[in-house]
Amino acid sequence: MGCGVGRNCIPVAKEFKNKCRIDCIDILDFAIDELKKNSIEYDVESEINGIVSSIDDFLIKENFYDLIIAVSALEHIDSVESFKNKLKEICIGTRKNGIVCLIINSEITEINKESGEELIPQFEVNMKTAELLVLLKETFDGWEIIKSTVRNQRYDIPRQSCVADLSTDVVTVVVKK
Ligand SMILES: C[S@@+](CC[C@H](N)C(=O)[O-])C[C@H]1O[C@@H](n2cnc3c(N)ncnc32)[C@H](O)[C@@H]1O
Repeated sequence: MGCGVGRNCIPVAKEFKNKCRIDCIDILDFAIDELKKNSIEYDVESEINGIVSSIDDFLIKENFYDLIIAVSALEHIDSVESFKNKLKEICIGTRKNGIVCLIINSEITEINKESGEELIPQFEVNMKTAELLVLLKETFDGWEIIKSTVRNQRYDIPRQSCVADLSTDVVTVVVKK
């Protein structure tokens, strides 16, 4: 979900060539166009199914996927409520022994590097890290935890009229149903 140009799904498609079909969703038609070009370049065209859709609108079918990946994407869902509903949908949509891999930014701050002014972070969902961890724990209760980490990252990011110093807690969870 929020696949962009295929940084995550193309390696997966290569690994499982002739054994998988990956629905790749992005809200930007430009991203899906580039994804298609990349899938040809990396010879995984028949494994990659590019879909232009918002994550909010894309209904995950029940008990349908062996692997669901969302990297730096779920925080762009419309609202915290939709985000929580999407997590439930992800759970229900994963088949037995299936894997969910989520990387979600939390507790994000952005500061104008020049003026020091605090900016409104450009993320629709920006939960407190502790709150997100509780939500993920509740959501995937009973699943096997393969990986669970929180790492703070800081980097410069260009914003409308300035460069911002962005700080984020990057929450990674990989769980097996
Ligand atoms: C930070 S990029 C990450 C791309 C990819 N997951 C990766 O790790 O390279 C976020 C992607 O999510 C997409 N995106 C943002 N909001 C979205 C939404 N509501 N529904 C679907 N895709 C969305 C963007 O177009 C962008 O391609």
